[in-house]
Amino acid sequence: MRVGVLGVGRIGAFHARALAAMDEVEQVVVADADHARAEAFAVEAGVEAGADARVEAASVADVYAKVDAVVIAAPTAVHADLLRRAADAGLPILCEKPIALDPAIARDVVAYVHARGAGLHVGFQRRFDPMYVAARAAVRAGAVGTLTRVHAVSVDRQPPHPAFVPGSGGIYRDTHIHDFDIVPWVTGVPIVEVTAIGANRGADVFRENDDVDVSAVLFRLADDTLGTAHAGRQHAPGYDVRLEVAGTAGTHACGGVTEGDFLTRFGDAYRAELAAFVAMVAGRAASPCTGAEALAAQAVAEACVVSRREGRPVRVR
Ligand SMILES: NC(=O)c1ccc[n+]([C@@H]2O[C@H](COP(=O)([O-])OP(=O)(O)OC[C@H]3O[C@@H](n4cnc5c(N)ncnc54)[C@H](O)[C@@H]3O)[C@@H](O)[C@H]2O)c1
Repeated sequence: MRVGVLGVGRIGAFHARALAAMDEVEQVVVADADHARAEAFAVEAGVEAGADARVEAASVADVYAKVDAVVIAAPTAVHADLLRRAADAGLPILCEKPIALDPAIARDVVAYVHARGAGLHVGFQRRFDPMYVAARAAVRAGAVGTLTRVHAVSVDRQPPHPAFVPGSGGIYRDTHIHDFDIVPWVTGVPIVEVTAIGANRGADVFRENDDVDVSAVLFRLADDTLGTAHAGRQHAPGYDVRLEVAGTAGTHACGGVTEGDFLTRFGDAYRAELAAFVAMVAGRAASPCTGAEALAAQAVAEACVVSRREGRPVRVR
């Protein structure tokens, strides 16, 4: 198959290289609003893949006609537009999280994509990471008994480039959203209430964009399990990703600081996610993370935005 990658920044470049290394992918077509970036990337990645022709650059407008599926890895603000175009072209889509900066736009575009019958897989790669897979299996096997507490940590090694911050949607939609997807996925129980606080302890760019770079979220699951989630934008020794799930019969604790950043920590998970997408495109498997599931995670992030702004607990809608 031929797969298009829209946006070859931090995550798009990783996805395009990983796709070019897959046997089932004949060609990767990259496109970027900065066309020179796409062209330079195609040359470099084509050489790495061992056959220049396997990675080619196209304009953002032309890519849809050249491929059998697309990966959307452009900034979040443009996801909705790119999703609609891909759905109009009848292509299966892997879209990076979050779907949109505005929850109403996210809901509308998911409905639009579904109405056109395009397959949609949203990029929550933690579902493919052995640590979270093992935690989910432990909970389901009864190893922790009746759930009582959950604790999640997601702290980046270094802040994103400053230009990324204004369009990121802020720490809840951009970073914590991974926790808001994975906690219900591991426990099998949705998050129904949050209280979010944040602080500015690092780079000025977050404060300047009404964002925080340190965050703590208290949450309640639908079965009354209580939880906490911490996120941060800078931790020099490495990327810190942890999960603790505790209950009446025991505790399953996993993760910790690893050297490198999210691309090294989750490299294998991203590759497994792309393999699952290729299986979906080939008709061998259903979407491993649907639009509805991504909207559920975003609803928790939206409740956090309101909670921090208004300084009160907020029910997830
Ligand atoms: N799943 C994850 O762990 C993960 C990690 C990082 C980023 N992301 C998500 O991926 C997306 C991209 O993040 P990033 O860190 O790679 O950003 P980035 O700023 O590094 O790269 C974005 C690229 O998209 C290009 N672009 C801008 N507008 C475009 C358009 N209309 N069409 C095509 N290309 C366009 C930019 O020129 C740039 O090259 C964001 O939605 C982000 O939330 C997800």
